[in-house]
Amino acid sequence: MLLSFYFSELKQVEQNYMNSNDRITPEGTKDYLFKECKLKRKAEKTLRNLFETQGYDEVMTPALEYYDVFSKGIGRISQDEMYTLTDNSGRLVTMRPDSTKPIARLYASRLKQAKLPLKLYYNQTVFRRNIRLSKFSDEITQIGVELLGAEGLAADIEILLLAAQSMKELFGDNFRIEIGHMGIISSLLEQPSTGDKDALRSALAAKNYPEIEAIAGAEKDGIFSNLFSLFGGTEVLARAKKLFDYDGAANALEELTQAANALEEKGFKNNIIIDLAVINEYDYYTGLVFKGYVAGQGKEVLSGGRYDTLYTDYDLDLSAIGFAVNIDEVVKVLGNEAATKQVKDTFTIALTKGRLEEQALRLLENSGLDCSSIRNKGRKLIINLDDKYEILFAKARDVVTYVEYGVADAGVVGKDVLLEMGRPVHEVLDLGFGKCRFSLAAQKGQDFYSGYKLKTVATKYPEFTKSFFNSRNMDVEIIKIEGSVELAPLLSLADGIVDLVETGSTLKENGLEIIEDICNISARLIVNSAALRLKKRTIEELIGRLSND
Ligand code: PRP
Repeated sequence: MLLSFYFSELKQVEQNYMNSNDRITPEGTKDYLFKECKLKRKAEKTLRNLFETQGYDEVMTPALEYYDVFSKGIGRISQDEMYTLTDNSGRLVTMRPDSTKPIARLYASRLKQAKLPLKLYYNQTVFRRNIRLSKFSDEITQIGVELLGAEGLAADIEILLLAAQSMKELFGDNFRIEIGHMGIISSLLEQPSTGDKDALRSALAAKNYPEIEAIAGAEKDGIFSNLFSLFGGTEVLARAKKLFDYDGAANALEELTQAANALEEKGFKNNIIIDLAVINEYDYYTGLVFKGYVAGQGKEVLSGGRYDTLYTDYDLDLSAIGFAVNIDEVVKVLGNEAATKQVKDTFTIALTKGRLEEQALRLLENSGLDCSSIRNKGRKLIINLDDKYEILFAKARDVVTYVEYGVADAGVVGKDVLLEMGRPVHEVLDLGFGKCRFSLAAQKGQDFYSGYKLKTVATKYPEFTKSFFNSRNMDVEIIKIEGSVELAPLLSLADGIVDLVETGSTLKENGLEIIEDICNISARLIVNSAALRLKKRTIEELIGRLSND
């Protein structure tokens, strides 16, 4: 009787589960209701009015485009990021992941005769596959402008001022517009003396300062070891002039200075952030680039720049500059009233509970902070420190999540977790404790790499392990284990493990040995993009406190 009741309950759960997709929206999408709709329409109206008064005319492109529009040439988009389907003739089409390429296609097919410069704007949805359960939508309403056929600094400034004005009309004065120039760091990367260029490029793109220093560490007082101080208000421009005095960079720096001056003249002095080390995330941009940030949002809400080579995909020599505003992110900020008020005075730091906790506290104490409120915290999760910092404790992965989403400004977390999660947070300091390494280990005497059998590897870090073996062009089967990974080879579940090794005693006492050390690990200070732009001074001060040198 009881058993049949149990099975009927189970069937009901199963039935509900199978039907459940008719009541929910696909991952990465959502319904908008009432207040959110109002905010969305209001933001769209504000920007549409602004663009129209500046002489921009609206265009709309279809939600479906041929896959070829995005899969080839400059600014191509990775297949993994696109929603792709087939039309009735079996041709590949995609839900547009971007509006700039369709506008290039539109220009090349229907607007070539138009008088230049051409001022266009769009207000439409784009579709991008995002990481599962990330907070970012797959369906994004973008409103943006494209200024076609206008070369030179005057056009750059026109668009930059329009971007700053867009931010102001949406958020009042509580925003930052970060400007950079593709020409500065790329000329430096072209210098023959620069070390591992690819590694440096990705460290620069991630704004991973310890990594940048490690790669380019040889030239001590050079540009790379000064990059963090070359990021900030307009004062960095004067400092940069002395360092970037070689061909290419000097011109780019001059353009950047003039663009910043123009923003200053129009009353945006306190909103400017200069980034001298911008790196092309896509292969799109060729000159000035800029992004708009607002408090409470870990990610930019506006981004744009000059892309003078994009039209060569259509055999056209046409200069172009533009930007897009992510209306969904704008709505989130406007809906969160606390965030739109002045930038919070306190600086929130998330500390990793457990192994790293004591060392992090000791570091804070050694820096002169009275941590008794933390030491006596009891079950309290958020503790005020020195009226300046707000400290919270969380599991390592949650530290990264809180920082990424912008609810914590900074975090202390192990490099192992950062490597595994691969999230877009910035490492600003190697804290020098929690030192260990990622190693591949197997039972003593076993030649892990020999034989034809597909190897099985147990690990707590499947993503890192996958990329390690991918880099070796080696197929392996990965089994995720939550702890005491060393058990897996002992029980013949796996041929090897990828795990953290500190003293090596766990391996030794269990008859395992290191096949290969993969990389060094230590605790890192991380910050999110918005904190880096809006609270740079506090971050610098914190780095000063926590640095060992
Ligand atoms: C870590 C790691 C190893 C051990 C290495 O595990 O996963 O098992 O420490 O340290 P050693 O080289 O000094 O011996 P942890 O103690 O965090 O526990 P877990 O295995 O249950 O995750």
